[in-house]
This record gives sequence, structure tokens and C-alpha cells, in this order.
Amino acid sequence: MASTILLYLIGLNRRKGIEKIDSLILAIKNGKQISVEEIKLDSNLEIIETNLKEMFKKNQEDIANMKRLAQARTDFLGNVSHELRTPIFSIQGFLETLLNGAIDDEKVNRRFIEKAMNHTKNLDVLLNDLIDISMIESGQMRMLPTYFNISEFINGIVEELESIAEDKGLKLETKFYDKEVLVFGDKDKIKQVFVNLISNAIRYSDDGPIIIETKDNNSKVEISVKDFGCGISEMALPRVFERFYRVDKARSKSVGGTGLGLAIVKHIIEAHGSKIDVKSKVGKGSTFTFYLRKKQ
Ligand SMILES: Nc1ncnc2c1ncn2[C@@H]1O[C@H](COP(=O)(O)OP(=O)(O)OP(=O)(O)O)[C@@H](O)[C@H]1O
Ligand SMILES: [Mg+2]
Repeated sequence: MASTILLYLIGLNRRKGIEKIDSLILAIKNGKQISVEEIKLDSNLEIIETNLKEMFKKNQEDIANMKRLAQARTDFLGNVSHELRTPIFSIQGFLETLLNGAIDDEKVNRRFIEKAMNHTKNLDVLLNDLIDISMIESGQMRMLPTYFNISEFINGIVEELESIAEDKGLKLETKFYDKEVLVFGDKDKIKQVFVNLISNAIRYSDDGPIIIETKDNNSKVEISVKDFGCGISEMALPRVFERFYRVDKARSKSVGGTGLGLAIVKHIIEAHGSKIDVKSKVGKGSTFTFYLRKKQ
């Protein structure tokens, strides 16, 4: 008799436990607002309690991530349309002025056509950046890494960009710790990194020089692009790698930036299994540093 009562009580207890588990799973499934402390089972069901708590936390993180992604997508679309609007409106404006008579005015017609042309070039740069970003973010960026001589490579890029720097009265300098060292990377992508970083250094500096330096760093080569330009405030610094982020919207607009360059640079470096850092002081200048694997 006693054993029957005991079995009944155990059964009752177990049923209560199962009902509690069931109601918790239902609450989680329906996305009910519960706190993790509310997930409490009897001490003999400790493992199930721990698992339920983990499942609940994961669920909450997934929902938060989804919301963040949805927001990011909306922001991205908003930014893209905003950036497209400026060149398209400008082109439209010049064409309209030309059609309304300026085409016969020899003093301005050529200039207006050239201006419209320049805006189509800006559009092209923007679209290429957008294609890069979407390829990278959807995991479609194909990497073709090889070993190459980093000093020769930098010299080639410096030669290409020298005249742009000189137009602003800036000098490009190089410092190599070892002229023979080979690094592993996708040359086209790494070129894009250098062009972006050096163009920024030129864009955001009025005084030179701009120094491109390599240093030995164990199994890697440390590469930095240093300028003595306007610098970046402490508040803005963590955000410069975000897409469309510009510290001074007015200033970088007047020099033609859309805020995609560093986002692309960061993606490329991360696709190489590496990282990029920035150090900067307002009014003193900035140094961007990244690492590439070295041939041993
Ligand atoms: N060397 C630098 N010195 C000072 N500010 C910089 C430097 N590099 C980047 N920044 C700041 O970071 C922002 C983001 O840089 P990023 O290269 O992503 O965009 P951008 O130069 O404005 O446009 P683009 O898409 O043409 O590169 C810039 O707008 C600028 O405010
Ligand atoms: Mg840039």
C-alpha cells in the first residue's frame, strides 16, 4: 500500500515537472517576454533547466541579431539611395541647363558637360564600391593569394599615386625593414587596401610626408600608412571602418568620399585572416596598421 502511494506521489511530481517544462518551452516558442530567472525546475531536473536556459538565451540572441540585421539593411538602403541621389541630381541639373539653352553658350557648354561627366565617374566609383561590399559580405569574394615581394609592390603603388600627392604638395615616403621579404596575399585586393589608405592619407592631410613602412613582426610583416593630417577624434575612431561612416560629412563630401573605403579595406584584411588597427590624434595625424603573413 505504502509503495503504491509512493509511486503515485513520484508520478504526480514528475507530471508537475513535465508540465512546467512544457509551459516554459511554449513560452520560449511563442517569444513570450520571460526572464531567464523564471526558468526554474526542481533540483532533480537541473540538467534540463540548464539546457532550457541555454536554449532561451540562444533564442534571444538570434532574435536580437535578426532585428539588428533588418535595421542594418534598412540603413544601408537609405544610405545607398542618398549617395546615388547627389550625382544623379547633379547630372540631371547640368543636362537640363544645357537643354534650356546653355548648349549654345560657348563659354559654359563644355564646362557643364565635363562636370556632368565627372559626376558619372563618381557614380561609377560608388557602384564599384557597392558591388565590392556586397560580394565580400555575401562571401563571394574570390581570393587568389600568392607570395610576393611587398617592398617592390609598395614602390609600384607609390609611383602610381605620387602625382596625386604632389598636387597637394605632399610627399610619399617608404621605409622597408627588409627589401627582399615576401608576403602572402591577393595582390589585387591588397592593392585596393593600399590605394584606399594612401588616398585617405592624401585626402585628409595638408602637410606631409605620408610614410608607408614595413616592420618585422614574428611570422608576419607589419605594414603601416602614416600621415600628419587632420587626425580622427577618439569618439569617431571606433566607427571609421563602418560603411558610409564619415567623421566630417561636409569636409569629406567636398573631397569626394562616400565612407565605403575603410569598410572595404577591413573586409579585405579580415579575409586574409588578419586585422587592421588605427591610431590617431586630432591635428597630429593617423596611422593605419595591418599585417600580412610572411614567407618563412
Ligand atoms: N587618414 C585619415 N585621416 C583623417 N581622417 C580619416 C583618414 N582616413 C579616414 N578618415 C575618416 O574616416 C572616414 C571614413 O573613411 P573611408 O575611407 O571609409 O571613407 P571616405 O574616404 O570618406 O570615402 P571613400 O568611400 O571614397 O573612401 C572618412 O570620411 C574620414 O572622415
Ligand atoms: Mg577613403
